[in-house]
Amino acid sequence: MSLFWRIFALNAVVLGTATALLLWAPVTVSVPVLLTEAIILVGGLAVMLVANAALLRLGLSPLARLTKLMTTVDLLRPGQRLPASGGGEVAEVIRTFNAMLERLEQERATSSARALLAQEAERRRIAQELHDEVGQSMTAVLLGLKRAADDAPSPLRAELHEAQEITRESLDEVRRLVRRLRPGVLDDLGLVSALTSLTEDFATHTGLHVTRRFDTDLPALSPEAELVLYRVAQESLTDVARHADAQRVSVALRLADESVVLTVTDDGSGIRTPREGAGIRGMRERALLIGGSLEISPASRTGTRVQLTAPHARSSPDHA
Ligand SMILES: Nc1ncnc2c1ncn2[C@@H]1O[C@H](COP(=O)(O)OP(=O)(O)O)[C@@H](O)[C@H]1O
Ligand SMILES: [Mg+2]
Repeated sequence: MSLFWRIFALNAVVLGTATALLLWAPVTVSVPVLLTEAIILVGGLAVMLVANAALLRLGLSPLARLTKLMTTVDLLRPGQRLPASGGGEVAEVIRTFNAMLERLEQERATSSARALLAQEAERRRIAQELHDEVGQSMTAVLLGLKRAADDAPSPLRAELHEAQEITRESLDEVRRLVRRLRPGVLDDLGLVSALTSLTEDFATHTGLHVTRRFDTDLPALSPEAELVLYRVAQESLTDVARHADAQRVSVALRLADESVVLTVTDDGSGIRTPREGAGIRGMRERALLIGGSLEISPASRTGTRVQLTAPHARSSPDHA
């Protein structure tokens, strides 16, 4: 039934009932009106209005639900749909909206996949150049300095040693940068080693106490899934260092049913505002890329828990 006829029918029911009551109930209205009659009339009017409002609210509730979803829907949490209730054009609008969401979610997934892959490729390129160009020439400088220091007279030698030391530190920094940009260990030694090295680096740099808990019987994951898990761990740890004001952080990787679950838990101040910046949204996009999901919740007492559930390769056939 169309919205027009539904509203009309609702009003007809209410007005019809009122008229029937007037016709068949033993009520009369005198002129001038008596107090009791006025009370009965006003009471009747109130009942009619309340009934009308209730029926209208009921009839329009699918639209209210639709408006609410329209204002809150988030393409990074896909799968939010409404039942096409309400009949007529209301159901049609809801069905169209659901179809539109479906299309937008797909487009969003494709475009963010493209952006993320381009970003990873660019990072790989920069890492390669840093490693091959800057790293190589700094190594050459280091060797040159060492040779010069060996041959130099003693007052100069100390200075050359100092220059050597600074160069070595810079070279270490370049290597760290390369590792951050392109986790080479991921390709060479796998996810667990890469995460171990990431957390060790993190612990040395921040002075936080890091606990690792990695299941030993983890299944083989696709390279994309491993990279997503690694990047989410990296971003979560950066957030802990930047925002959490924590003492301890634990990083866990365990097998649950058909998925591998990464959990990063800190004992810091917790996320107060639900404001999600580029970092968290980036993690959600990466999760979608491999058909996984990201959940951010308060940790047991204080602090924050970031959890990524990544299905393993076998159970995500839709991912090419
Ligand atoms: N582990 C955490 N503990 C406390 N607050 C956090 C944590 N992680 C994120 N936040 C909060 O969530 C906000 C959004 O994080 P994010 O999207 O990574 O953006 P950014 O790190 O660039 O500020 C942060 O500004 C911070 O207020
Ligand atoms: Mg961040």
